[in-house]
Amino acid sequence: MRDLRISVTDRCNFRCTYCMPKEVFGRGYDFLPKADILTFEEITRLTRIFAGLGVDKVRLTGGEPLLRRNLPRLVSLLNEVDGLSDLTLTTNGSRLVEEAAALRAAGLHRLTVSVDALDDVTFRAMNDVGFSVHRVLRGIEVARAAGFAPIKINMVVKRGVNEEEILPMARHFRGPEFILRFIEYMDVGNTNGWHMEDVVPAREIVERIAAELPLEPLAANYRGEVARRYRHRDGGGEIGIISSVSQPFCGDCTRARLSADGRLFTCLFASTGTDLRARLRAGASDAELTDLIRRVWHARSDRYSEIRTSATVSQPKAEMSLLGG
Ligand code: GTP
Ligand code: 5AD
Ligand code: SF4
Repeated sequence: MRDLRISVTDRCNFRCTYCMPKEVFGRGYDFLPKADILTFEEITRLTRIFAGLGVDKVRLTGGEPLLRRNLPRLVSLLNEVDGLSDLTLTTNGSRLVEEAAALRAAGLHRLTVSVDALDDVTFRAMNDVGFSVHRVLRGIEVARAAGFAPIKINMVVKRGVNEEEILPMARHFRGPEFILRFIEYMDVGNTNGWHMEDVVPAREIVERIAAELPLEPLAANYRGEVARRYRHRDGGGEIGIISSVSQPFCGDCTRARLSADGRLFTCLFASTGTDLRARLRAGASDAELTDLIRRVWHARSDRYSEIRTSATVSQPKAEMSLLGG
């Protein structure tokens, strides 16, 4: 266990069709009540315990993490946890104009922003709330000015929806300031209506880019790195491909996930998690929580992406907006 991915809210202001489709996450949807969501102090205590078990990298996610009030305060608290070498955040970028400087000042090390298209019509259709890409791009500029470098950009590629954006995105985010990562569309949760035909395989993505911008593979930064790395041969920086459908990487997975309501999930595709919040609020000691987490981690046998078939797609799975990306 090396990475802890912490979802700080299950809410989002976007309704990306591949993640929180409007038809399901509509007006009547039951988001978590405030009392069920871990406080910053509870998150910090758990993070300290996870760090004691070997976690050295923390990623804040959601839902949209910047919808959580005062998130920079959590960043400051986590910055005080011994043993962490990396503290990072994945956001849809909608609030970066307002928040980037405060996040940097609070000690956030790195930033990943989801951008699925540069074409505004396509971007608006994918977030399905009509949010303009220009505001996200402005947020990215503000984050750069605040000192985040390089910034990672995540693009989920969906067949027939934004595949024509692969090259424009590769051109736009070239250079040392950015690392653009293309993510194969995945069957997370049970609501996005995933079909294998909607996936643009990693190999095809690389071929399309390399046809215009020659690429060469790079070695992984560390064992278990999610993205396969390439660099532009002309020195135009680096890209990554996250091929969890066509080339799964479960064998090297070191990621634990803490949902907004304090459950420990050992896989992005798990249906259930272990309720840490109940133990915490019932007065469990650090030693008891450590022991519980260790037992859960040792018992894990997750390898969903390696066994995925058209039949596993309908297995019950937690939604990504609850347990984080
Ligand atoms: P860094 O290397 O720290 O920058 O992070 P990363 O490569 O882990 O990137 P990030 O955390 O942004 O993950 C990118 C995306 O990869 C996620 O948003 C998910 O879509 C996907 N991903 C991450 N972890 C897993 C996993 O365990 N299984 C699968 N199938 N996909 C994952
Ligand atoms: N398949 C692939 N990536 C997804 N993300 C959300 N849902 C999916 C999906 N079904 C991505 C987001 C964000 C990251 C947290 O996960 O776009 O970049
Ligand atoms: Fe919100 Fe991110 Fe999910 Fe889009 S992918 S709906 S931005 S949580």
